[in-house]
Amino acid sequence: MANSVVLASWMVLGLVMATSTTQVEAARAFFVFGDSLVDNGNNNYLATTARADSPPYGIDTPSRRPTGRFSNGKNIPDFISDALGSEPTLPYFSPELRGDRLLVGANFASAGIGILNDTGIQFINIIRMFRQLQYFEEYQTRLADLVGYDEAQRIVSDALVLITVGGNDFVNNYFLVPFSARSRQFNLPDYVRYLISEYRKILMRLHDLGARRVLVTGTGPLGCVPAELALRSLSGQCDPVLQRAAALYNPQLVEMINELNNEYGANIFIAANTQQQTNDFVSNPGAYGFTTSKIACCGQGPYNGLGLCTVLSNLCSNRDEYAFWDPFHPSERANGIIVDMILSGSTNYMSPMNLSTLLALDSNTRT
Ligand SMILES: *[C@@H]1O[C@H](CO)[C@@H](O)[C@H](O)[C@H]1NC(C)=O
Ligand SMILES: *[C@@H]1O[C@H](CO)[C@@H](O)[C@H](O)[C@H]1NC(C)=O
Repeated sequence: MANSVVLASWMVLGLVMATSTTQVEAARAFFVFGDSLVDNGNNNYLATTARADSPPYGIDTPSRRPTGRFSNGKNIPDFISDALGSEPTLPYFSPELRGDRLLVGANFASAGIGILNDTGIQFINIIRMFRQLQYFEEYQTRLADLVGYDEAQRIVSDALVLITVGGNDFVNNYFLVPFSARSRQFNLPDYVRYLISEYRKILMRLHDLGARRVLVTGTGPLGCVPAELALRSLSGQCDPVLQRAAALYNPQLVEMINELNNEYGANIFIAANTQQQTNDFVSNPGAYGFTTSKIACCGQGPYNGLGLCTVLSNLCSNRDEYAFWDPFHPSERANGIIVDMILSGSTNYMSPMNLSTLLALDSNTRT
């Protein structure tokens, strides 16, 4: 009797293990590039001030501990991993990223970086875009050592890629200080054109490295984040100069992506209109169940928008009521809403299609 119970539980265990292995194989890999909106903790391993590795960051995770994500809980990549049925991506620098964990994908993002190398120079040691792409190449060699060259290529071309970069090229470069080097070099429309032409090279490099499904997010409403309200707004209105920057940048990004897709003759790049998405809950927070989209949950000064979020900051008690967790970054709940729009939003939000449509399309062509 006792023996058969043991046997039965071993069989259950075997079944669970078999199922979980197939799941690892079935879920597509996920690669993440960009800045603090999508960094899962790479900066914890670097000598930089751009880190989210101390409380109260991570206060709403199961462990209630900071992870390096700029959120009270999950960030945008985490919700996308959920939708793919995968574990969250590990930071590329994590020592746990080896063996079978490589099959899940990897997160190369680094808080503070921009499209341009000179963005975020004050953070000193951060992984700039060209370096993230070099690490992606290095990752592919490690993956090929594990599963063979052909299988590694297949995993990469079937993978979903997310890239979120560009906001820092405005707030941590052009507009960082009055009369910044870039603002003396370019007027705003010319700067935006320059950014888009450099971003295009980054996307083409991703394609060269084998990426075939790349979700590209625009910037949010830059002038409406609590940090900018605190610095630039007397009346609580979004800063018009930064709003103009976002309004110039986002449509040109979509246009560039459409051009690239035409050149490649395939829908390699999917544009997510994060500005529209975030605008929706910034202009009408109540419709999304937020009590405020102006005041950060964690921070100090007007709108809790000044300085860093630390143990000494004001901290709200109900994070779900705040669209912004800290002066720059959405709360976990806002991140979930953004990913819902990426998954099932209309063509106002997603071009040329939403992520659910894309995933369904790919699973049809692969079977
Ligand atoms: C950034 O720096 C790298 C390495 O020096 C260089 O290869 C790359 O072209 C630079 N990118 C831009 C946009 O200047
Ligand atoms: C987006 O995704 C949903 C499925 O979640 C689908 O029903 C809807 O039609 C899609 N919208 C567009 C415009 O493709």
